[in-house]
Amino acid sequence: MMKHDSWWRDAVIYQIYPRSFRDANGDGEGDLAGVIEGLPYLASLGIDAIWLSPIYRSPNNDGFYDVADPRDIDPLFGTLADAELLIKEAHAAGLKVIFDIIPNHFSSDHIWFQEAMRAAPGSAARARFHFYDGRGESGELTPNNWNSLFTGPAWTRLPDGQWYLHLFDSSQPDLNWDNPEVHADFEKTLRFWLDLGIDGFRIDVSHGLVKEDILVDHRDPDLLTKALRIDTTDVTAEQRADLLSDMPFFDRDGVHEIYREWRKIFNEYKDRMTVGEAFVYPTSRLANYVRPDELHQIFNFDFLLIEWDAAKIREAASRVISELATVGAPPTWALNNHDSPRLVSRLGSLAKARALALLTAALPGSLYIYQGEELGLPDGDMPVSARKDPIAIRSKGADLGRDGCRVPLPWSAHQPHFGFSSHTPWLPQMSSYGDYAIESEVSDPESSLNFYKKTLEIRKHHPALGGEGQITFLESEPGVLAFTRVPGLVVVANTTDGSIQMKLEAQSILHQSGHGVNYVADLLDLPAHTTVWLQR
Ligand code: NOJ
Repeated sequence: MMKHDSWWRDAVIYQIYPRSFRDANGDGEGDLAGVIEGLPYLASLGIDAIWLSPIYRSPNNDGFYDVADPRDIDPLFGTLADAELLIKEAHAAGLKVIFDIIPNHFSSDHIWFQEAMRAAPGSAARARFHFYDGRGESGELTPNNWNSLFTGPAWTRLPDGQWYLHLFDSSQPDLNWDNPEVHADFEKTLRFWLDLGIDGFRIDVSHGLVKEDILVDHRDPDLLTKALRIDTTDVTAEQRADLLSDMPFFDRDGVHEIYREWRKIFNEYKDRMTVGEAFVYPTSRLANYVRPDELHQIFNFDFLLIEWDAAKIREAASRVISELATVGAPPTWALNNHDSPRLVSRLGSLAKARALALLTAALPGSLYIYQGEELGLPDGDMPVSARKDPIAIRSKGADLGRDGCRVPLPWSAHQPHFGFSSHTPWLPQMSSYGDYAIESEVSDPESSLNFYKKTLEIRKHHPALGGEGQITFLESEPGVLAFTRVPGLVVVANTTDGSIQMKLEAQSILHQSGHGVNYVADLLDLPAHTTVWLQR
């Protein structure tokens, strides 16, 4: 059933981390042929689209978010022909295809940066990046005190004495978006992939492209770095709000000009979409990115951090919904991604993870699922020496980084490397991963996988779900979140440690995240850490 005429407004989008999805050529690294092999599985989930984290040519110092050629596929993943085949086969399976685009920085292996390193200070080649002389008597001090988000200074010095800016790894020089050449090159890249048939882009660090006051020191760069890591609890919410609401390198107003340009390009094509990644404060500023002449969707980070607490969930959900409604954009919901701890590990319980997932799937807008989430997969663990994330490497293991959520998927409990690859995988899998193998979960009616499939199946067909229809929060006792969607759905989540009873008018139970829900004579009996969907 079409609930509106733009597919992306309530789409269920499955994020693939290609290196860890499925390895078809036996080198221990996932690849495009592996994604093609996995299409029947993906289509069986009931999703609308797949989003692939970057697959472009890259030295891979940051999980391929360091791009050396944005218009070519890295040989590790395959070839351009494989990408074309994937797009064609995904479309034949009824799935849209979204690629990542990384406009904040290139890899230092990109031909532009190679040219810049050979060129003189002040040259046109250096003007594509942020090159500055240093401070101090002989320029030996960084041009400002900003930190890289991956720890250490945000500046690296070339042998000729100039410094270049990199908000991430030193091999990820930031691009200078004041330079028209940068705009022209990205237009070329957008068109290249749109012409090849992809349906949209996820825009990496979409809030970061424009920098201001580059030569001014920040008041507390170390705390700011902590505040920008969404998976740390080293800063308080108040500190995060304070620091994020005033950042020289993120969420500058000038960034919106870029997305207005891009939207014009997208509008030349049919049915394409964009989703921006932006960690901004206050969150009301997210709406700026999805004004009608800018991006289509924007992620919010609230649900990646949310606690299993009815009041906090209600506050975040109603805030995001109402803020985005001011510009007519659909909200998006993501409980996991390749940068944050997996939900089950974060909440410490499969029951809570399922209950939060069921509640989230009933919210209006678009739903993102990160590979393995549907299996109830926990984070992997590994020694520091096995870690590949530049965060772990740059901090020498003081910060373990994001590898835990990037461990290759288990496909079969009985095959070597759980059927992911015939070769040792690039990150070690946990011995417990066999319990979450796709093959086993497919045939277990109680599995997380079958729970997700049923959730998405009902979401697709129920007239109240997906879409952007009205949501009304109901008054309920502390620890309980209840809302209605029209027509005909009541959702109740119990985030407390005990069962609760609630008087409520409905017809019957449609779906539940656990066991033991009872609904008789207008009385709902809901066990601890459980969500229920009721037909009204
Ligand atoms: C956000 C991406 O999701 C993350 O994986 C990456 O390290 C940074 N941007 C830098 O590109």
